Amino acid sequence: MARRRVAILISGRGSNMTALIEAAKAKDYPAEIVLVISNIAGAGGLAKASDAGIETATVESKPFGKDREAFERKLHDVLVAHNIELVCLAGFLRLLTPWFVRQWEGRMLNIHPALLPAYKGLHTHERALADGVKIHGATVHFVVPEMDSGPIVIQGAVAVRDNDTPDTLAVRVLGIEHRIYPDALRLVASGRTRLENGLCKTDGNGSPPDKLISPEVI
Ligand code: GAR
Repeated sequence: MARRRVAILISGRGSNMTALIEAAKAKDYPAEIVLVISNIAGAGGLAKASDAGIETATVESKPFGKDREAFERKLHDVLVAHNIELVCLAGFLRLLTPWFVRQWEGRMLNIHPALLPAYKGLHTHERALADGVKIHGATVHFVVPEMDSGPIVIQGAVAVRDNDTPDTLAVRVLGIEHRIYPDALRLVASGRTRLENGLCKTDGNGSPPDKLISPEVI
């Protein structure tokens, strides 16, 4: 089967982007990363993508000010010009308009550093620690107009430790992100996901461990 053509949208350092690029090097991976686009000139991830031999583009959002849709029309044109089939948001820090989301409905994924629907928005690790949750994690989901919502493709969890800070927790959650985003793209690109009544179902998965209990009581 032909590999699906994927663009990754970034605003920053692009560590999730790198995880996707690495995963896509595998011969049996069902997607190829053909383009990385940043809305911020000089974003750290751009150089990493170029070093990996991936074409990059910068479509700056700043000059468009509040006219989000004008920015997105330009972004959309670049994606279409490259025959992109799937879009992965990876630390792309722009709210998207319903117009753009509609163009890529069912074909655009996002990664969020929390177990959605808990902790939508910013500062997820700080807020999870403030609430004293014992399990935290990350989610890859299809993008819908409402922020940090949409059918969940995959989630990964970590145990929260009493002495965690937002930074220490972020490191472990990021490790999970780098694992689940390539898995999510594998599922979607290979056609193993289907959307049913606003939920994402998957075919042919292994069975995960039944339980993650935190703290472990000994
Ligand atoms: C990641 O932790 C990602 O989950 C988060 O930004 C970081 C980007 O890091 N995204 C969001 O908070 C979106 N709501 P990266 O540039 O190294 O992939």
